Amino acid sequence: MNDVMITNIKSLILPKKTDGPLKGKEMDELNIVDDAIVVIKDGKIVYAGAKTDEYETKETIDAEGKIVSPALVEPHTHIVHGGSREHEMSLKRQGVDYLTILEQGGGILNTVEQTQKASFDELLNKASVNMTRMIQHGVLTVESKSGYGLDRENELKQLKVSKALEDKFPVLMRHTFLGPHAIPKGREAEEFLQEMTDLLDEVKDYADFADIFTETGVFSVDQSRKYMEAAREKGFRVKIHADEIDPLGGLELAIEQDAISADHLVAASEEGKKQLADSNTVAVLLPGTTFYLGKNEFADARGMIDQGGAVSLATDYNPGSCVTDNLQMIMAIAALKLKMTPNEIWNAVTVNAAHAIDADRGTLEPGDAANIVVWDAPNHEYIPYHYGVNHAYKVIADGKLIFE
Ligand code: NIG
Ligand code: FE
Repeated sequence: MNDVMITNIKSLILPKKTDGPLKGKEMDELNIVDDAIVVIKDGKIVYAGAKTDEYETKETIDAEGKIVSPALVEPHTHIVHGGSREHEMSLKRQGVDYLTILEQGGGILNTVEQTQKASFDELLNKASVNMTRMIQHGVLTVESKSGYGLDRENELKQLKVSKALEDKFPVLMRHTFLGPHAIPKGREAEEFLQEMTDLLDEVKDYADFADIFTETGVFSVDQSRKYMEAAREKGFRVKIHADEIDPLGGLELAIEQDAISADHLVAASEEGKKQLADSNTVAVLLPGTTFYLGKNEFADARGMIDQGGAVSLATDYNPGSCVTDNLQMIMAIAALKLKMTPNEIWNAVTVNAAHAIDADRGTLEPGDAANIVVWDAPNHEYIPYHYGVNHAYKVIADGKLIFE
């Protein structure tokens, strides 16, 4: 006897399980089964597909004629941080741009100050509010970065809070060390980068990936290469905040270093976009950040996909450049501004997001974790279409209904 059957499913969205991310045209392929059921035992999928009488279960969850998908995967967040930066809105209004605010000691460095001051419990309580909201919006896999500590004690504190979140909530997490996120005031880039590189051995117990912010006024491509090489020697897969504002060649560096993902890529070069197709690197696009920074040029998702690359989407939730924990909102911006199709968008927030963080999530094949969302929408195109609200109707984690 199985444990649970989800019945009365109008359409079941089934992204394809593959060894690597979906690339190019594959991203537009999505299996959708009408009049479906899902059967679950011990928190894992037994069957997900067309309705059949073959299975007996102890319990049913009624999908009420709505649509069902795997829970979403969020592959890029800065969920653990102190404070907030609403005062930057007026600076932006006066035309002071993101990198100028940082150069003046604000921006990321402001959040560093607030994160250093905050206790472990304060950080955990604050991040728990965001995590609860993410889950209620249909996300059950979350990547979380450090990078607001910028010294040994506070980077470790952030990573430990991130680990504690995973114990507290029914989510799978990936944790990323982003020590080289900004240069503390009065410090010299090379010397600070060495200090962060020296921390890699110690953070290995807490972090799955090593990340760096490669940008004008932060770390150069050469400095980033040195850090990524050191991280890879210590066994990390690397990630990079690349070509967010200026075209420095961060995407090419990511590919050269076999990065698991290259994130942002608004200003990525034509050459880099072309190389993506033959690489193992997933482009994690963050269009909510472009929107929030008030820019008109978005990442060239179409160019990347049409040339055969793998694209994923994330919120980049953080207190400065993208203050939303609603991944559905990002799906809408991707439809409107990145010109991605509904199928590409669903694959980008399920299977490809999972590949970007090496998580076995985003599909509903037998044996997969029964992490599922019932959406209050007539079809899968509706979610990117009706933006700014929460369409998640029921959230099921490891076979248990945890939110409705
Ligand atoms: O991905 N650009 C660098 N890091 C974050 C923003 C962090 C912040 O502004 O606090 C990003 O956009
Ligand atoms: Fe980020």
